Amino acid sequence: MGCPDNNRVFSSGIARNAPLLEFRPLFPPRLYHMTPRKILVTSALPYANGAIHLGHLVEYIQTDIWVRFQKMRGHTVHYVCADDTHGTPIMLRAEKEGIRPEALIARVHGEHSRDFAGFHVAFDNYYSTHSDETRHYAEDIYARLKAAGLIEVRAIEQHYDPVKEMFLPDRFIKGECPKCGAKDQYGDACEACGAAYAPTDLKNPYSAVSGAKPELRHSDHYFFKLSDPRCQAFLRQWTRAPGRLQPEAANKMQEWLGADEENRLTDWDISRDAPYFGFGIPGAPGKYFYVWLDAPIGYMGSFQNLCDRTGLDFNTYWAKDSDTEMYHFIGKDILYFHALFWPAMLEYAGYRVPSKVFAHGFLTVDGAKMSKSRGTFITAESYLQQGLNPEWLRYYFAAKLGSTMEDIDLNLDDFVQRVNADLIGKYINIASRAAGFIAKRFDGRLPATDCTPAFRAELPGLMEAAEEIAAHYEAREYNRALRRVMALADQVNQYVDRNQPWVLAKDPGKDAQLHQVCTLLINAFRLLTLYLKPVLPRLARRAEEFLAIDPLHWADAAHLLPAGHRINAYEHLMQRIDPKQVEALVDANRESLAPAAAATVTTTSTATTANPATAPETASPHPSGDDKARTAATIGIDEFSKVDLRIARIVEASHVEGADKLIRLQLDIGEERPRQVFAGIKSAYDPATLVGRLTVMVANLAPRKMKFGLSEGMVLAASDEGGQTPGLFILSPDSGARPGMRVK
Ligand code: MSP
Ligand code: ZN
Repeated sequence: MGCPDNNRVFSSGIARNAPLLEFRPLFPPRLYHMTPRKILVTSALPYANGAIHLGHLVEYIQTDIWVRFQKMRGHTVHYVCADDTHGTPIMLRAEKEGIRPEALIARVHGEHSRDFAGFHVAFDNYYSTHSDETRHYAEDIYARLKAAGLIEVRAIEQHYDPVKEMFLPDRFIKGECPKCGAKDQYGDACEACGAAYAPTDLKNPYSAVSGAKPELRHSDHYFFKLSDPRCQAFLRQWTRAPGRLQPEAANKMQEWLGADEENRLTDWDISRDAPYFGFGIPGAPGKYFYVWLDAPIGYMGSFQNLCDRTGLDFNTYWAKDSDTEMYHFIGKDILYFHALFWPAMLEYAGYRVPSKVFAHGFLTVDGAKMSKSRGTFITAESYLQQGLNPEWLRYYFAAKLGSTMEDIDLNLDDFVQRVNADLIGKYINIASRAAGFIAKRFDGRLPATDCTPAFRAELPGLMEAAEEIAAHYEAREYNRALRRVMALADQVNQYVDRNQPWVLAKDPGKDAQLHQVCTLLINAFRLLTLYLKPVLPRLARRAEEFLAIDPLHWADAAHLLPAGHRINAYEHLMQRIDPKQVEALVDANRESLAPAAAATVTTTSTATTANPATAPETASPHPSGDDKARTAATIGIDEFSKVDLRIARIVEASHVEGADKLIRLQLDIGEERPRQVFAGIKSAYDPATLVGRLTVMVANLAPRKMKFGLSEGMVLAASDEGGQTPGLFILSPDSGARPGMRVK
């Protein structure tokens, strides 16, 4: 697991069109000690009821870069994925379209495959969870867990839609928030106050499918006994293995697992009642596996299908004693499925467990959640249709991606600026400046003598950086890898400026010098291409054609083009981005009827913490949830005056351990002791800068017990939801106001 990558593979780098007699390798072929790693890589399986958007692409591009890098290193890598096809949302979506779920998932499979190919995401297999292979392993794993005594049946009480005659998943029940009373809230969390709760807590619940008032009904459900001491002990040990999880993820696990003697995990409900689109549970008529049971098993299904097509051996990768590596790339929102349920399922079903889980953060666009009204909920399809180059986005994402779970921001101005400056200004220009002279003046040929010593002297570090850049890719620190590559490109451009080939070209006596300068530049371009190839695969292929070489492998960084090598005519490899193209893209994605953005005052006293027990049925229940910059319904003065707003002095402000959004405030409103309030403003404020400030708080909000302590009120903050300005802004009174004054 995580073997150090120090095995290099020899690759000759023989030029495709070099006449054999003339070809002299620069170094005698060195046979590196070669033990390729065997690696199985997955990305999360996208739901089969929605389009691929730029948020998804963060993950698939991140994974694809890593896979391509490992392949360039000479390792054996299999990259599998599939559509996640089961569950209520997909069933209902098909029904709405008047087609069978099978027809829906077949169509979406085509769309997803097209979009991924469009962004050069090169799966070795892109399959479907609605497959015999996945069914086989789902039944197999279930049978083994049952044999291990880890399946239990018990009756639970659940919302039932009497009109639609089905049990309702959390996200299909709406009602009033039990905490703040906001209307039309989903069954898992309140968008107005951020409170998390169970759907049974909602006031005046109604079915989002039929509008009917749901009834509570009993039904037998099947549970995976995660509370079993064996599972707890195993997961403690598994999640703590060094390097298994990123530090932030390991901390989250610690939080979910609790202290050693605690038994905090609850059993996991793995069944759903008919009608449901999924696999029936063997021996349990009318019961289906919950979509999240078979979804990760889809990794196995897709891999089995690959094995059947190519003759690979399934057990080499999945048997308990396998010494191969297995990595799951996922978003941070589905960490608990991959770091709790999934390894426990595998362990007790007798399969190998994942080597590592790599979680990434979420994409924001211009500092805010993707939004349909702003046109920043951009689909993969529209990006390509608008004629934008997919490699621009691959480059930009890579330049932003590190190995942490931090969110990454696509700033549209920066996107244009960065891609143009780096890729066109620094990298592509190197080839375009040298290629013309080589073609016109030297018949496309490099000098007959070896230029390696000159190259090493003039451009020190360019060949030598190969292992350092490789280490960055290996560690998923793509931002560092690209910073290093661009620093090398800067160095090459300084060499151009020092030697001014266009000046040399005017003096016939300086032919040899011109030839050498351009040759060094072509070689530099080749090396930079090699370093960028995991990120820019199509550009690299075209560059390889121009350079007339075989596909570049990492080991090729150890040598230059052979003396006398002949390159092809240069054709421009990449256009600059025109900012107008980006404007057009945003316009094309903007949903009409968008109301003018109005600054709305939002309450910020809570943050929800993902919890396995309240995990939503699908990862993003409200894809355009931030599109609500409407003014709230009219209320009378009486209703307003029920809210007791007070001027408060922030006497203390501190970070809350284990909470990514919260700051703990002590607020003086002229009472005997300050009030404690947890405010979700950490993204916008440094606690130290808040101390001493006056602000406004709701003083008569019912105290709320949070994981971190009691919250005795809330502070108000403005945010431009659905608008252009990111951030949160707490309020300040005019000077003269004193703590405790009433605000009316
Ligand atoms: N079907 C589940 C995964 C099952 S894996 C056995 C799912 N599907 S999804 O379509 O909602 O998301 C697929 C992947 O894309 C997830 O890893 C998710 O985190 C990622 N992303 C979806 N939206 C995203 C952003 N806005 N930003 C970054 N990644 C995002 O979850
Ligand atoms: Zn609420």
